[in-house]
Amino acid sequence: MNNQNFNINEYLQQDLINCFPDYETFISELNEYIAMSHIFGSAIDELTTKLNIIDRQFKLQHQRNPIYSIRSRIKSPQSIVEKLQRKNLPISFKTAREQLTDIAGVRVICHYINDIYQIADLLTFHDDIHLIKKSDYIARPKPNGYRSLHIVINIPIYLSEGKEYVPLEVQIRTLAMDSWASLEHQMRYKGNDKAKSSKYADKLKECAETIHKVNITMQELYSSLYENNI
Ligand code: GTP
Ligand code: MG
Repeated sequence: MNNQNFNINEYLQQDLINCFPDYETFISELNEYIAMSHIFGSAIDELTTKLNIIDRQFKLQHQRNPIYSIRSRIKSPQSIVEKLQRKNLPISFKTAREQLTDIAGVRVICHYINDIYQIADLLTFHDDIHLIKKSDYIARPKPNGYRSLHIVINIPIYLSEGKEYVPLEVQIRTLAMDSWASLEHQMRYKGNDKAKSSKYADKLKECAETIHKVNITMQELYSSLYENNI
């Protein structure tokens, strides 16, 4: 089997073996995961190109890049299986493709809060991109203080069999929101129960509020310097 092109490394193979210990199932799920990685990887490439074009055009118009960085990932076999289990769904990548919308994820890190909404609007303005779901955790932060704009879109990719629409979860946030989210995620997953206590949760939320205030002030400064609309 030639799977060199799809980066099925030893780590990923081990992950798949753990998920599907039965040999026959492992082989068929491995093939499904390879096919899925190709399709979702292509969707990520398409979206990344669109984002880079938006970034360059914005630079031409406003003399600065709105996007600081773009990261992407395809959900690991283990995370897919865990999510299917949580949702009481049959454990197979075929089900995952039919039922989950976050197998492919793209994180766009911007400089200013307004950049987030402009990028989301410009992306969904493309008539080949279909908006499936929008969760504005900036207007309505999560109870722990998490802020970010999440959109789920369907994006077309062109295969030898024809056009296929693929779902992608796009998280758009500022650099400051991203630094909070990374640290909060790290603290939560390091397995220290104390970190989950209300004392620490309150402090983390306070940090999120402070970061939000800084984001708002920086936006106001930028707007008054360059947009003359304050
Ligand atoms: P999932 O089952 O996690 O996919 O939840 P969901 O489908 O209801 O989506 P939601 O929009 O709540 O979150 C999806 C993703 O956003 C997560 O996988 C994280 O990457 C990110 N996220 C959401 N909430 C938090 C949070 O409180 N902290 C951090 N660090 N990331 C979060
Ligand atoms: Mg999700």
